[in-house]
Amino acid sequence: MSDGTSTSDESRDQDFRASDGQNTQFRGQTSEPKGSLDETEKSQSSDENGQQFEVDDPLFSQRTGIFRNKEMVRVGWVPDGNRIVGRDDYISTISSCLNDAVYGGAPNHISITGKTGTGKSLVSRYITRRAVNASVDDVRMGHTYLDCSKSSTEVQVISTIGQQLNDESIYDEAEDIVKMPDTGLPTDKFYKRLWQILAHYDSVIIILDEVDLLRSDHVLMSLAKAVESNDTSCQIGIIAISNQINYFDELNPRTKSAFQAVELNFDPYNATQIQDILRGREDAFRDGVLTDDVIPLVAAFSAQEHGDARKAMRLFRTAGELADREGSGVVEEHHVRRSQDTLEKDRFRDFLQGTPTQMKAACLSIAAKSLYSRDDYIITGELYDAYQQITNAVDMDTIGIRRFRDILDEMQLSQVIETKEVNMGKGGGRHNSHRLLHNPEVILDIVVEDTRFRAISKASLKRFA
Ligand SMILES: Nc1ncnc2c1ncn2[C@@H]1O[C@H](COP(=O)(O)OP(=O)(O)O)[C@@H](O)[C@H]1O
Ligand SMILES: [Mg+2]
Repeated sequence: MSDGTSTSDESRDQDFRASDGQNTQFRGQTSEPKGSLDETEKSQSSDENGQQFEVDDPLFSQRTGIFRNKEMVRVGWVPDGNRIVGRDDYISTISSCLNDAVYGGAPNHISITGKTGTGKSLVSRYITRRAVNASVDDVRMGHTYLDCSKSSTEVQVISTIGQQLNDESIYDEAEDIVKMPDTGLPTDKFYKRLWQILAHYDSVIIILDEVDLLRSDHVLMSLAKAVESNDTSCQIGIIAISNQINYFDELNPRTKSAFQAVELNFDPYNATQIQDILRGREDAFRDGVLTDDVIPLVAAFSAQEHGDARKAMRLFRTAGELADREGSGVVEEHHVRRSQDTLEKDRFRDFLQGTPTQMKAACLSIAAKSLYSRDDYIITGELYDAYQQITNAVDMDTIGIRRFRDILDEMQLSQVIETKEVNMGKGGGRHNSHRLLHNPEVILDIVVEDTRFRAISKASLKRFA
């Protein structure tokens, strides 16, 4: 069973399943003697990744001079409790919700909302693992973690949960193992097989991460109703997580009434907490390689973005990788600044990928305004003017103001811009006003990767502003 020991390089993030794919703990029949696997020991076992081996092939012979254990600065790594900063209240609420499951009883469902990088995934996974490790001897307790951005259909969800829980150790020797395929059965058969697998458990905690990415919330309802409708006698506790604050209010009414959950909303971190989180991972690096400016600068960049610990972790790691690649013996401020640039570009490129060309023109309009206008916030009408000039200059179709507004909404949702309503005074009415949250030069660099916009430069943007 792997447990957070994935070594896959994480240039993006969210590869939780890489480390969680087989991450089913089954207390009743694990091979470890009870109590041998407390949370501290468990996370240390992944420290073994830090051990380097001699490699003969000259192409791969260079041993990292910067990292002692890079795994520890991977977003999906689950640290032990001492390294979890400022989440005691949430931890205690969630553990009391799960408490009964540890004794084979019915846990409470939990819904967690909060912005990216506020520790939602980490805290949920950490407590669930602890709960399973703590479960009493004769209780067969399981847990499973699902990233709904990867398993978004009902069948994918049910089959993935089934596969993760379908550990050989749950079966007696004489028993037939239930087969849980990825596809190829009618939906109700997938459910039936899941109930057969769950029959081997007294309680199971299911984490549905990024739950808003499910194609439909029907599966949430079926899982939440399973015990009540006698589909299974296994007690199911669901922890459903979303970055969208309103997601659970807006569920289908039938799902809402089935999924009665304790609601938690995770606050963003402040710069000091981010620094503490990073200090808790300093030993990912070799002694003395981090110069003094690194952690404060990473924290400052992340605090600019609502206190996003995920961003902090990625910056921290990328700065180290950059230093490593250069053969530098230390990580310095300029490595952090350059990683900030790289990550911002990656993120923006990801955002643009798959959006219509109109989005690129709209992004250029706000980049132009942001570079050359005195105001931070620009009203929709002015942006639309700039956008029209840009589409004319590159000879592409122009969309109407309504669709342009939709595009701005999308930019706001993806945190490319921030929008607020302003009152323009007597007779001026109320207008939406927008501010760019990215470096305009980064936007320009990425948009001009599309040959259609090749002719546009920083200087030429001035005439659209
Ligand atoms: N309170 C915390 N203490 C230590 N590390 C944290 C804390 N909160 C978040 N992290 C780290 O920051 C990164 C992002 O956290 P994550 O749980 O993925 O956030 P979310 O799910 O809310 O987007 C992860 O690497 C996680 O280990
Ligand atoms: Mg998460």
